[in-house]
Amino acid sequence: MTQRKILVTSALPYANGSIHLGHMVEHIQTDIWVRFQKLRGHQCHYCCADDTHGTPIMLAAEKQNLTPEELIEKVHAEHLADFTGFYIGYDNYYSTHSPENKQLSEQIYLALKANGKIESRTIEQLFDPEKQMFLPDRFVKGECPKCHAKDQYGDNCEVCGTTYSPTELINPYSAVSGATPVLKESEHFFFKLGECADYLKQWTSGSTTLSDGRVQQHLQPEALNKMKEWLHPDENGEGGLSDWDISRDAPYFGFEIPGAPGKYFYVWLDAPVGYMASFKNLCSRIGLDYDEYFQAGSQTEMYHFIGKDILYFHALFWPAMLEFSGHRAPTGVFAHGFLTVDGQKMSKSRGTFITARSYLDGGLNPEWMRYYIAAKLNSRIEDIDLNLNDFIARVNSDLVGKYVNIAARAAGFIAKRFEGRLKNVAGSELLAKLAAQSEAIAADYETREYAKALREIMALADIVNEYVDANKPWELAKQEGQDERLHQVCSELINAFAMLTAYLAPVLPKVAENAARFLNLPKITWANTRETLGEHTINKYEHLMQRVEQKQVDDLIEANKQSIQTASAAPAAETSQYTPVAEQASFDDFMKIDMRVAKVLNCQAVEGSTKLLKFDLDFGFEQRVIFSGIAASYPNPAELNGRMVIAVANFAPRKMAKFGVSEGMILSAATADGKLKLLDVDAGAQPGDKVG
Ligand code: MSP
Ligand code: ZN
Repeated sequence: MTQRKILVTSALPYANGSIHLGHMVEHIQTDIWVRFQKLRGHQCHYCCADDTHGTPIMLAAEKQNLTPEELIEKVHAEHLADFTGFYIGYDNYYSTHSPENKQLSEQIYLALKANGKIESRTIEQLFDPEKQMFLPDRFVKGECPKCHAKDQYGDNCEVCGTTYSPTELINPYSAVSGATPVLKESEHFFFKLGECADYLKQWTSGSTTLSDGRVQQHLQPEALNKMKEWLHPDENGEGGLSDWDISRDAPYFGFEIPGAPGKYFYVWLDAPVGYMASFKNLCSRIGLDYDEYFQAGSQTEMYHFIGKDILYFHALFWPAMLEFSGHRAPTGVFAHGFLTVDGQKMSKSRGTFITARSYLDGGLNPEWMRYYIAAKLNSRIEDIDLNLNDFIARVNSDLVGKYVNIAARAAGFIAKRFEGRLKNVAGSELLAKLAAQSEAIAADYETREYAKALREIMALADIVNEYVDANKPWELAKQEGQDERLHQVCSELINAFAMLTAYLAPVLPKVAENAARFLNLPKITWANTRETLGEHTINKYEHLMQRVEQKQVDDLIEANKQSIQTASAAPAAETSQYTPVAEQASFDDFMKIDMRVAKVLNCQAVEGSTKLLKFDLDFGFEQRVIFSGIAASYPNPAELNGRMVIAVANFAPRKMAKFGVSEGMILSAATADGKLKLLDVDAGAQPGDKVG
C-alpha cells in the first residue's frame, strides 16, 4: 500500500458564538474520515482554527467590555474544550489571529497583486455617522423595497426572499447605533475573479488522480451544478462572476493590508488562509515539510469539509486565490447539509438550538451523538435531521443492544472458565463473513457514505447475534462435556466483537480505546477488521456503554430553553432578532392582567430623567398618572397628546424615585434595535374599554 499524505480541514467556526450540534455535524463528519485514514495507516493531518476577524466579532467584544483579543482567547478555549469533549481529534486547533496567518495572507495578497489580479476602485457605501464606521450589509436594517416588511437586513428580506443592496432599503437605520446611515465614498481593493473564470470552470468540473489510482472529483455533483449557475451568465447576462471586494475600512478587527494604511483584509480573505496557517504552525511543531503540501503541483491531498452555505467561498474564491498566488488547489471540497432537529430548523425557544456544552454538561455520552450523526450522513449535500425519539431508539438498539452486548455476553465465560484465554479461531466461518466486508466498508468510509457503512456494520452485528442465539453459550456452560464448544463459541464472539470494534473505531474512538484495553491490544487498526486474534489473553470486561434515557434528552432540551434567558446578554452570531417566546401561560394567568384603553390627556418630559415620560391619562372611569420609560423613542412628547394607548390598570401603584407615583403601565412593542413603539387601537374604542 502506498502511504497517502493528506491534509484535512473543517470550516473555521466564528469566534463569537458557541459551538452547537450543527457545527458538531461537520466536525464529527470530518473526524470520522480523518480517523479512518489514520486507522488505514495513511499520513493524515487534521487542522482547524477559530475564525476571529471581522465586524461582528469586533462589536461583540465591545458589548462584553473586552478587547477583541481577549474575546477570541476566551472563546478559543471554550471551542476547543467543546470539540475535545466530542473526541474531535485535531492535530492542530489554531486561530486566524496568528503570526503565520498574517504572513501568509499578506504573501497571497501580494502575489495576487503582482499577478495583476488586484484592482482598487472607489465605491459608495453606507456609513454610520454616529459610530463613525462603514456598515456591513447585515448591520443595516430597514423596510424591504419589494414587500415593505419592516426591519429587514441590508442584504435580503427574510419575509419575501428578495435580495438587494442595503442602499435600496426604505428608511434604513444602523443596527449598531440606530442612526440613519449616509452614503460615503471609500477606496476598496478587489480580487478580479472575473479573470479567473476559465480556470475556475476547469477546476470546478475537474478531478485529481490520487496516488492509489482513484480519481477524485473536486466537487460533488450538486455542488458542480450550483457552480455552473454561478460561473455562466444566463441569457439576460445575470449571474457570472463579479470581482470580489476584499478590503474593509478601519475600524476593523483583522490584518491591515500592506501598503494601505487604514485598510484591512475582509475576514473571508484571511479565513481560508487560516487553514494553511494552522497547518504551517503544526509543521513547525512536528517537523513536517509545509512546502511539500502547498507548492503548486503538490502530490499531497487536501480536503475541506464545509457546510453548504459557504460553498461559494470554498469552490470559487479559495481555489482562485491559491492558483493565482502560485499554490496548489484543493483535491476536494466536501459540502454537507444543515442539521435540523425533529424536522425543523434549530430553534432557541423550542430548546433545539442545542449547544455542545449543554450536551456534555448534561452527562450525555458524546459517542451516542457521533454514532447517530454518522448513521445519517452520506456524501451528498442533504440536510440531516436529528429526531430525538429516533436518537434514543437507534443508539440503544444498535450500540447497546447489538454491538456492546456481544462482548458482555461472552466475556464472563472467557474470564471465569478459561482464565481469559482465547482459542485460536482462525478458520471460523462466522469471522470469515465479518472479515469479507473489510474493503467494502472501507470504501464507504472513504467516499463518506457513513450511513451505508453503519448499516453494513449493523448487519454484521445481526449475524453475530443470530450466532449467539443459535449456539446459546449460557446453555453450553451448564452442559457436561461442552467446554471445548463453549470455548470455541465465546472466542469467536470476542473476535467478532474485536472486528466490529475496528469497523466502528472511526465513529467511536473512546469505545475503541476502552475495548482495546479489554482485548489486550496496544491499539485498534483497520487490520483488526479482517485478522483474528489467535491464541491470546484478554483482560477483564468493563461495561463499554450505557443506554440513553428519555429523561436525559428531556433535560437537555429544557436546559437549552433556559439558557436563552441567561445567554441573551452575550450576543452570538446566530442570535435571532426575536426575543424568545416566554414560558407557557394559562388563560387564567392572562385574565389576571386587566388592560384598558386610555386616552393621553397630556404627555411631557420629566425633569431630571432622560428615560421617563409622564402621562396624564383618561381611563374613562377615572384619570391617572403613569410614568413610562420611553423618552428615548419619543423625543417630542407633546405629539402624543390626544392619542389612545393600552395600559395595565390593575398593578399596585408604584413610587418612581423622586418623580411621583405611577398608577399602571403603558404597553409598547420593543423592536430588535431597542426602540419602543406605543400600541394604538382602531377608531371606535373608548377610554376604559377592556382589552383581551
Ligand atoms: N467562519 C466561517 C467559516 C470560515 S472557513 C474558512 C463560518 N463559520 S460558522 O461558525 O458560521 O460555521 C462554521 C461551519 O458550521 C460552516 O461550515 C457551517 O456550514 C456549519 N454549520 C453552521 N450551522 C450548521 C447547521 N445547523 N448544520 C450543519 N452545519 C452548520 O461559516
Ligand atoms: Zn420583502
